[in-house]
Parts: sequence; C-alpha cells; structure tokens
Amino acid sequence: MRKILCLNKISPVGLKTLPVDYEVTTDVNEVDAILVRSAVMHEMKLPESVLAVARAGAGVNNIPLDDYAKAGVVVFNTPGANANAVKELTIAGMLMAARDIHGGMKWVEANKEDVEINKSMEKAKSTFAGTEILGKTLGIFGLGAVGSLVAQGAHGMGMKVVAYEPSQATIEKNRDMLPNDINIVASADELYAVSDYISLNVPLLPATKGMINRESIAKMKEGVIIVNLARDAIVNDEDIREALKAGKVRKYVTDFPNHTTANMEGVVAIPHLGASTEEAENNCATMAVRQIVDFINNGNIVNSVNYPNIELGVKTDAHRIVVLHDANEGISGQIIKVVETRGLVKQIASKIKGKYGVTLIDFVKTSGDCTDGVCLGESLAGITGVITLRVIH
Ligand code: MLT
Repeated sequence: MRKILCLNKISPVGLKTLPVDYEVTTDVNEVDAILVRSAVMHEMKLPESVLAVARAGAGVNNIPLDDYAKAGVVVFNTPGANANAVKELTIAGMLMAARDIHGGMKWVEANKEDVEINKSMEKAKSTFAGTEILGKTLGIFGLGAVGSLVAQGAHGMGMKVVAYEPSQATIEKNRDMLPNDINIVASADELYAVSDYISLNVPLLPATKGMINRESIAKMKEGVIIVNLARDAIVNDEDIREALKAGKVRKYVTDFPNHTTANMEGVVAIPHLGASTEEAENNCATMAVRQIVDFINNGNIVNSVNYPNIELGVKTDAHRIVVLHDANEGISGQIIKVVETRGLVKQIASKIKGKYGVTLIDFVKTSGDCTDGVCLGESLAGITGVITLRVIH
C-alpha cells in the first residue's frame, strides 16, 4: 500500500481519485508522498521514504525546493488549476476597491436595528460612492494562467488591458486567452505609467520580493489601485502605507494581509480566499494526486518545480529505472552504459533543468538477476552525481 500524508485539508474529490493501492495516512514516518496547501515546510525534515511533495496550488514559497531536490524529493505544483477562482476574486477585488461595498455593508450591519433603515441609508450612501472600472486601464504584471484570465475578464468588463510579461514563451502559451487588443509593453515602467489598476500576478521569488516599493510606486499614476492576489512580500508594507497616506495609491487590495496591512487605512484585506472555491480545490487536489501517482507508478514528472518534466508513458512489462541526478550533461550516458551491461535497454528519456536532471530507462534483464534498486544502485555507485535511483517493477 502506498501512503499519502496531507499537511492541510485537501479536497476529498481529489483524494477519491487515488488508486486502490494508495491510502491517506497521518503517520509521517513511512509516507511515500505529501500533499500540501499552505503549511510551511521549511523547517520540516522529511523521512527518507518520501518520493514527492505536491502543492495543491500554484505558489511554492512554503516549500524548500532546493533542499528537497538535493534529497531526491520531486516537488510538484498545479499551475492553472485554481486560476479561474483567483481571476474571479481579482475582479471582485477591483470592484471592492472602486466602490466602498465593504464600508456600505458595515454601515447596514451597524444600523440593522433602525426600523427606518430604508430611509436613513439614502442619506448615508453618498459616503460609500465610488467609480466604475469601465474604460479604465488595467496593468497586469505577469501573463501566466491567472494573469491571462484576468486580462480576458477585465477586457470583457470594458477595461483597457496592458500587460508586462518578460517571458515570450509564457505569452505564447497563453496567447489564446488574451484579448486581441491587449497592449503587451516592454518594461514594468511602461505599465506603471499608464495603469489605473495594477494586478500583480507573479510568483514570490527573490526578483519579485518587494518589487512594489517607493521607487516603483513613484512611477505609477496618481490614485492607482493595486491588487495583490499573488503573495504578501511582493509589496513593501511601509512604502504602501506611505503611498496610501499621500493618496498616491487609492486602495491596496491584498489577499495576504499581515498584522501591518490588516491595520492599515485604505487596505481591502481578504483572508487568502483566492483559490478557496469548491471548483478550484477539487481541480488542484485532483491534479496534484494525478501527478504524484504518475511519478510513483511510472516515474513521469509533470509540473515539477524543482526537477525537469519528463515522460516515458505508462510503465509496461519492462522494469523502469528512475534516476534523479545532478545536471552534469554526460551523466545519463554513463547511467545507460551501466544499465546496458545488465540487460536490454528498451527506451530512454533524459532531461536536465537548472541544477538537476532525471533519466528514465525501460530495461529488460538479459542475464543475472540485477533488476532491483540495490543491485543497480551498487552498479551505479561509481557515477558521481546520482542522487537517487528507484526501480519500478
Ligand atoms: C496558490 O498559490 O495557488 C494559492 O495560494 C493556493 C491556496 O489558496 O492554497
């Protein structure tokens, strides 16, 4: 029986797609794979039995990707699976910033005992008036799955859409979703200069940490609305406070409030609800389970964030050898040579990404009985750079 540990509540619809020889366990000591949503894993030491971790979501800043790669643990995410949910809340966030819906609702709550509320609200409502998004310019930072859907939705609501995306490959991948008249600008500064609303749709990386700060805000239009459904640390708290106070930023919508921003005037704070819809939770969990099972059963890697993606189809009668190794170009050749001395190599796939690589080999033994991980491990021991080896029978 394969064992899966869930560090957060994972949709039962996804868990139901686990094959019959898999079970969910609460015992960390002998798990084969971990499903996680927002639990922070940086301090978590994994038992050696763990082959894979899958994040039911897009962001992976709660997982130590490189440490796990070094330990031969493949980490997956589920890009796009919750993108529509995040897009819908981004549009809602823009509307909540444009009009004081929340302030108005709080007023109704505070005045609900007033039997004449239907009259008094007509006097009070001017306090909560706002503006429309029709005809305004939305600048989208990042045209991944979420950013592209936000572009489509905002365009449908009559906004002009400008975007900045440094990766041409990402633009091409999502081209079909983008409105025909989207203006993809060549620099972040061009986006800042023209946008009435800015939607941040980038992952939290060293390059994006604190990118919305005093300098970038200075390049924005007066009264800009910033919507952050990406990650807290992309925006510098003290700089946004200053900009809100000065009116340079009209509202800051965040799905990642912290103690500072939750107490800040001008902030529309949402408690990380971007992906919290039934549909998104089901999609993410189903995709995460599928990817983990495909890796455990077939060695295939789809949507990994710390190893290259690689596929050799469903495992057949041959033994499949899964070798995780470093990025040394010659290593797969050396692995194949050793395996060839033990039997017939039927098919091979090998990929390298960044510091790490994967080699999959389908192998039929021709002599001796070297078809297990121990024997092959001994044979491959002389090759520097092999991180883990697994044989799927
Ligand atoms: C994401 O990174 O896709 C979301 O943060 C997922 C979630 O809400 O768990």
